[in-house]
Amino acid sequence: MAQPLIRPAAPQNPPAATGQAAVRVRNFIRRFGAVTVLDGLDIEIRRGEFVALLGRSGSGKTTLLRTLAGLDPVDGQDVAAPPARAVVFQDARLLPWKKVWRNVALGLSGSDVRARAEAALREVGLDHRADAWPSTLSGGEAQRASLARALVREPGLLLLDEPFAAVDALTRLRMHELVLSLWRRHAPTVLMVTHDVDEAIALADRVLVLDNGRIAAEERIELDRPRAIDSQFQAIRTRLLGQLGVQARAPAPDPTPHEGALLAFPTGEIVA
Ligand SMILES: Nc1ncnc2c1ncn2[C@@H]1O[C@H](COP(=O)(O)OP(=O)(O)OP(=O)(O)O)[C@@H](O)[C@H]1O
Ligand SMILES: [Mg+2]
Repeated sequence: MAQPLIRPAAPQNPPAATGQAAVRVRNFIRRFGAVTVLDGLDIEIRRGEFVALLGRSGSGKTTLLRTLAGLDPVDGQDVAAPPARAVVFQDARLLPWKKVWRNVALGLSGSDVRARAEAALREVGLDHRADAWPSTLSGGEAQRASLARALVREPGLLLLDEPFAAVDALTRLRMHELVLSLWRRHAPTVLMVTHDVDEAIALADRVLVLDNGRIAAEERIELDRPRAIDSQFQAIRTRLLGQLGVQARAPAPDPTPHEGALLAFPTGEIVA
């Protein structure tokens, strides 16, 4: 893993209130053969900020996350991120031959690894499955184990790559609550890739749209959490969908009220 290629952005860990950047990428270029995926990308994320990243399929979202995770070379370009980083992918990527707690403790050392793994599992409500095999977990449980594995490292930067795409709508809502509570408690900087515009607006402080290798649009979300699908929410959704080249559908008349109702994912727009 090419970890040392990225220099730390904020070694002194200043408080979020200073507004100092935890992540800073300037004029970043990433090519695969003749194809330029990231083309002079600039991005800055404040310490402790929760940013969601939208973009059509193939626009380079995972490429950016892999770069920030230190999984891909940066070739001397201007990329700065906290040294402690953790990634949660769409699939939980648990090792099937290791029990759940050992998956969470992967790469940790010391006499207290089991205790640390159990504490992280407790935070995601999964301590009772510490000795289970990954194959016996549900999709949502596996994703929670994956979150625990990320958290146990106390990352300064938590990178989430469509982490809830494979779980059902109800589990997804619960995962949202969980991620927000973990974010409040541990205060990492978060960059979350999603195809779901509503998910982005529901969770993030700021939503970015990646297009043509650059950040093409930005929305700061200043709505109180938990966020209701009210007219402000819908206006932001319409703008973001426009940026993504999708026309917003009017909400269908239905048995559950949208105006003022808490976010319900069956109404969400998924952009592929
Ligand atoms: N290792 C690689 N070698 C060659 N091409 C690659 C490699 N990794 C990514 N690409 C290409 O770079 C482009 C961006 O890929 P990336 O996975 O970042 O897209 P994405 O925005 O995450 O898409 P999705 O929403 O479908 O996950 C795609 O065209 C992909 O085929
Ligand atoms: Mg991707």
